[in-house]
Amino acid sequence: DWQYSLRPRKLSEYIGQDKAKKNLDIFIKAAMNRGDALDHVLLYGPPGLGKTTLAGIIANEMGVNFRQTSGPAIERQGDLAALLTNLQEHDVLFIDEIHRLSRSVEEVLYSAMEDFALDIIIGKGPSARSIRLDIAPFTLIGATTKAGSLAAPLRDRFGIISRLEYYTPEALVNIIKRAAEILEIPIEDRGALEIARRSRGTPRIANRLLKRVRDVAQYEGQDVITDALADKALSLLEVDKAGLDHTDRRMLSTMIKKFGGGPVGLDTLAAAISESTDTIEDVYEPFLIQLGFVNRTPRGRVVTRAGYEHMGIAYPE
Ligand code: ADE
Repeated sequence: DWQYSLRPRKLSEYIGQDKAKKNLDIFIKAAMNRGDALDHVLLYGPPGLGKTTLAGIIANEMGVNFRQTSGPAIERQGDLAALLTNLQEHDVLFIDEIHRLSRSVEEVLYSAMEDFALDIIIGKGPSARSIRLDIAPFTLIGATTKAGSLAAPLRDRFGIISRLEYYTPEALVNIIKRAAEILEIPIEDRGALEIARRSRGTPRIANRLLKRVRDVAQYEGQDVITDALADKALSLLEVDKAGLDHTDRRMLSTMIKKFGGGPVGLDTLAAAISESTDTIEDVYEPFLIQLGFVNRTPRGRVVTRAGYEHMGIAYPE
């Protein structure tokens, strides 16, 4: 599908995240020169920044198989054992949302990561015994939105920890132009910049908005995306100049109108806008904090002066 075809396959095609890219390039080349599996990698950062894409690229650059699963999908120790015993030498096992693994599954992972071995209990009661099963040396790539919610013993077993950052508008312009070329959508540089500025620093959103702007262009009979067309389409989609969508603005206006701008606790806020606390913490809040519209304080979230100004509401002195 289009997502897949838009996904870069090589590090050299991957735009932005220069720090993560540079380090990974060094570690991949060094591991390959030694003939080793790459050390386990933890990728963390907000959703949509390309953690899965990067994991796929790592496997591709290493020339190994890419196996993909997620924390919630691995319910039992046996599920993980099945995955691990099917890996070939140096393969990449990608576990998305790794902070959502259960404790018992996590414990199996410890010896797998450290010793490339599985400790399996056979039998029950007094006759139960443990056998150790070797597995192929592999690379675990874990992805999480919150490194802080990983258990310390798990976090400590990753040799490479890489934080993905929101993309700059310049990087997003290049990502949008690359996607437009693949999708054969003619776009002016200024059209790409207008979409980039309003994509919350997130390639997944940029690519989605590009497709919606294309729909409007087609509807209007325009054969190239200009900044004016992008602006019109994004206004229709209720994406404002800062890239905030309907829910972001609802969160800000609820904080201001119902809670006097805060501090308001996460649970209270979640109930007031009918979103889950996870979605607020992972998706909405990080970007509002990045823009300087919201602050976290020990007593809860507050709207900043810039947040008030963005909403067109006077800041209470
Ligand atoms: N598509 C989505 N994310 C990308 C990235 N970082 N580089 C190139 N294309 C992308």
